[in-house]
This record gives sequence, C-alpha cells and structure tokens, in this order.
Amino acid sequence: MRAAALLLATALCGPLAQAADQGARPLVIAHRGASGYLPEHTLAGYELAAKMGADYIEPDLQMTSDGVLVAMHDDTLPRTTNVADLFVARNGGYKVADFSLAEIRTLTVRPTTTGATTHPGFTPRFAELRVPTFDEVIAFAKAQSALAGRTIGIYPEAKQADPAMEDKILATLQREKYASAADKVFVQSFSDATVKSLDAKQRLLGLKLPLILLGHAITLPDGSAMLAAPGGRMLSLKDVATYAHGVGVAIANAKYPLTKHWVDQAHAVGLAVHGWTFAKADPATAAAEYEGFLTMGLDGVFSNYSDLAVTARNAFVATPK
Ligand code: G3P
Ligand code: CA
Repeated sequence: MRAAALLLATALCGPLAQAADQGARPLVIAHRGASGYLPEHTLAGYELAAKMGADYIEPDLQMTSDGVLVAMHDDTLPRTTNVADLFVARNGGYKVADFSLAEIRTLTVRPTTTGATTHPGFTPRFAELRVPTFDEVIAFAKAQSALAGRTIGIYPEAKQADPAMEDKILATLQREKYASAADKVFVQSFSDATVKSLDAKQRLLGLKLPLILLGHAITLPDGSAMLAAPGGRMLSLKDVATYAHGVGVAIANAKYPLTKHWVDQAHAVGLAVHGWTFAKADPATAAAEYEGFLTMGLDGVFSNYSDLAVTARNAFVATPK
C-alpha cells in the first residue's frame, strides 16, 4: 500500500506528495510527552519520551492572557496544575486564557492518571514540573536533538480554533526554521476550518508544513471512508487531501472501529494516517494493540508509553512482510 501511495504521490505535487512520502517507517509520537509515566506536557516528560526513542514530541497548545503559547491540553488549569491552591477563580473558573504567563509560570504540573512525579532510573535535565511555553518546547527539542544525535520532531496542536493562535504557531515555526516535513514537524487541529486556514496562510509565508486534521474514522454503509469533524459533519477524504497532508484518527471508537479498509482509502488519496491514543501500559497487551493497528497500515501512533511504542514499531518494521 505504501508503495502505491508513493507512486501516486510522485505524480502529484503539494500536500499529497509530502504526505505519502512519510510512510516509510511508522512514527512514534509521544502523546503529551511520556504522559503514561510523568506529568503531561512537562519538559521532563518530553525528555523521557525522547530518551525512550520517540520520533516526535506532541505539545498541545493554549494561549495565555498575554498572548503566549503554552503547552497544555485543557483550556483550563485545574486538572493538571495546582492553580486552585495558589489563585482564586477568575470569571468563574481557571481558564488558561485568563492567566498571564508570569502567573502560569508559578504553577506546578501534577500527575493525572497513571503518571508519577519521577521515573525509575531517569534524572531529568529539567526537574521542575512547570508549564513550558511553545518556545521552550522547541528549544528543548533542538537541544535534545543535539544531545541524542538525531532530530526529535515536534507535533504541535492548535487547541483553539483561533486565527491568532494560527498566526502565532506559524510565526514561531518560521522563526525557528521549521518549514517542511524534512524539518520533522507536523501541525495538527481538530478543526477543519483551522487546518484550511493554516494551509492558506502557510502558502503565503512560503512554508510547506505538513498539516494533520484530527477526527473520527467513519465508514458509511456504502463503504465510503469519511472523517467526522466537529459537529458531526462528515468530510470526504478526497476533500481533506486538498488542504491536509494527513489525518489523525481515534483508534478506540466503539461505534466506528478503525479498519484497514478505511486506512487504505485514506492512503489512496495520499493522506498519511496517524492513530490516537495508544494508552495501554501492560507490555503484552500494548504490543498486540500496536501490531494490529500497524498491520492495518498506520503511518504513526500517538502513545502515552513511548518505550512500548518504539519496541512495537521496531518489531513491526523488522518483521518480513
Ligand atoms: O492530537 C492527537 C490526540 O492527542 C488527540 O487527543 O485530546 O489528547 O489532544 P488529545
Ligand atoms: Ca493532542
């Protein structure tokens, strides 16, 4: 399938060509860092993921009241930080957008589900569990790349469908010399409007960043593969391929399971397919899950346990097909 997609892409230009090119080896994307082990979206969590061999670290992005991009999944602070111990609520809550960077810098990030504050045998370079800015994540990725002797990619997600956030992400990436897939970067969003807008804006800036539209993989009764967008709208993969380089799809949708047929249809229009979220902690159970989805043809996996993902990916690649 990958060979077919590559042939198709060779005959095309723009997004499709870039997307299919990335299918040589399934990518391991550290979902919110090594978030199964350490607090999500911390430099320590990203560092552990990089040391475990992840290809990309994934910062979800929110914007502070003074317009700084920070790595955080939620648009509110209490689930992952001690904000309620330090500040009274604002506007009835603790939205990231209501707090300045200086205030957010005072917070400590806490483990949520399976994470802990330390990991056996690992001493982080950045031991303080703070909320990093996007700039700090990029600086970390570059420094870690130099240390590791390989490029640690970045896979930022615009968590708000906000043109100002789009502009800041693109300006930051351009300033930091991320211009195309060769720089090991993806930009993702659940909003098709945002991905379309990013596509248009980056063309004006001369960038060719691979864009990933997130959603749910739906197979209609007639066998057509669609991507469910916000509001339940069904997007045709052919249309998505005109502005996105790939799709990021849920692997655990009970009603609409991801299938090889769906992945094949995405590949047929030149879209790379990355799956989220691989969250099994038990090595044997996780290995079986990775093997099943990689056999379907996934081009990348978002994993909470980078070590398990890398082991499974390497075993998959080493197995004769
Ligand atoms: O971005 C892919 C995956 O991370 C989507 O899930 O909610 O963890 O951002 P979420
Ligand atoms: Ca994400």
